[in-house]
Amino acid sequence: MTVETKKTVASATAEIDIEKAQQFMHKVVADCAATVSVTLAVIGDQLGLYRALADMGAVTSAQLAKSTHTSERYVREWLINQAAAGYIEYDTKSGQYSLPNERAAALLDTDSPFYLGGALMIALAMTKAEPRIRENFRTGAGMRWGEHDPYMWEGCERLFRPGYLANLTQSWIPALDGVQAKLERGAKVADIGCGHGASTIIMAKAYPNSHFFGFDAHPASIEQARKHAEDAGVADRVTFEVASSTAYPGNDYDLVAFFDCLHDIGDPANTIRHTRDALAPDGTVLLVEPAAGKHIEDNFNPVGQFYSGASVLVCTPNALATGTEALGTVATDDALAAVVKKGGLNRFRRVLETPINRIFEARI
Ligand SMILES: C[S@@+](CC[C@H](N)C(=O)[O-])C[C@H]1O[C@@H](n2cnc3c(N)ncnc32)[C@H](O)[C@@H]1O
Repeated sequence: MTVETKKTVASATAEIDIEKAQQFMHKVVADCAATVSVTLAVIGDQLGLYRALADMGAVTSAQLAKSTHTSERYVREWLINQAAAGYIEYDTKSGQYSLPNERAAALLDTDSPFYLGGALMIALAMTKAEPRIRENFRTGAGMRWGEHDPYMWEGCERLFRPGYLANLTQSWIPALDGVQAKLERGAKVADIGCGHGASTIIMAKAYPNSHFFGFDAHPASIEQARKHAEDAGVADRVTFEVASSTAYPGNDYDLVAFFDCLHDIGDPANTIRHTRDALAPDGTVLLVEPAAGKHIEDNFNPVGQFYSGASVLVCTPNALATGTEALGTVATDDALAAVVKKGGLNRFRRVLETPINRIFEARI
């Protein structure tokens, strides 16, 4: 009797259901294939292959290679992989490949709410951290944000910026009590853990009467944020400085914002304590954190899978390298509320959520 016709078979340790085993094999093969295609997607992005596909319409491998000054032998194989992955289309009659508009939005349009090029970059950067993180499992040591592959930093900006562009000034700030009016009149704002400054610059453009101070512990990110502020023409009202979340300068801030970073910070309660002291008496804290559920099983979906993986490979290691408390990327609302309260802010509420973020307001 062959394996196909039997319902169960004895493995080394136990009897297994063949159909279930085969279903799981398909899943693992699909995961491995997807991991490979993520690497090839980043290559396609960096070499302009997607850009050329979008601009040229239907192309052969020779045409694509010629227009991108790449090797046809590599491009030929890349196209097969990308068509197999469902990222591009293949026409069997003409032998040409194309990139449908909806997929071009996800792969090329960095301003689009559909854009996911940043997620691809981060996913690839995270795989490069595997040797360090594997060792950390044994030692309990950490790994700083700045020790990651640079794709991590650019990928983070590209991942979160479209969401900030679509939501920050349209719905998140208006949802905070009285903050929009202050920003329109002229307010003082700090953006802690600002990374490349995407959120800071979006706010600065929307509220020309206000002044913005971005702080981050990672010098290369601050350098990049300064360049972005110059390019955006807001450098006269936006200052970026290297500073830790527990010691950044300034006081009387009307708004202190934390975009996707409180859970990366190794000393979150002291960060909130310092922020309480830096706030104006009626100031507001805007806390943007990754989407996560109340129960562990609420995170058993692709977004929860991505974020909990990022927690292991990026966020928790940074917290452990720089402090004593790691909230984790999928910290519950209650865990966040507890830290905010410990830091001395008593009013805390979730004001909004998106598929990838939770938005909170905290006040003295
Ligand atoms: C996931 S990134 C988010 C960056 C940015 N806010 C965004 O949304 O694109 C986390 C950032 O927090 C910064 N960070 C981590 N711990 C910090 C600390 N203790 N003080 C200041 N910045 C910190 C990192 O350097 C990194 O730029």
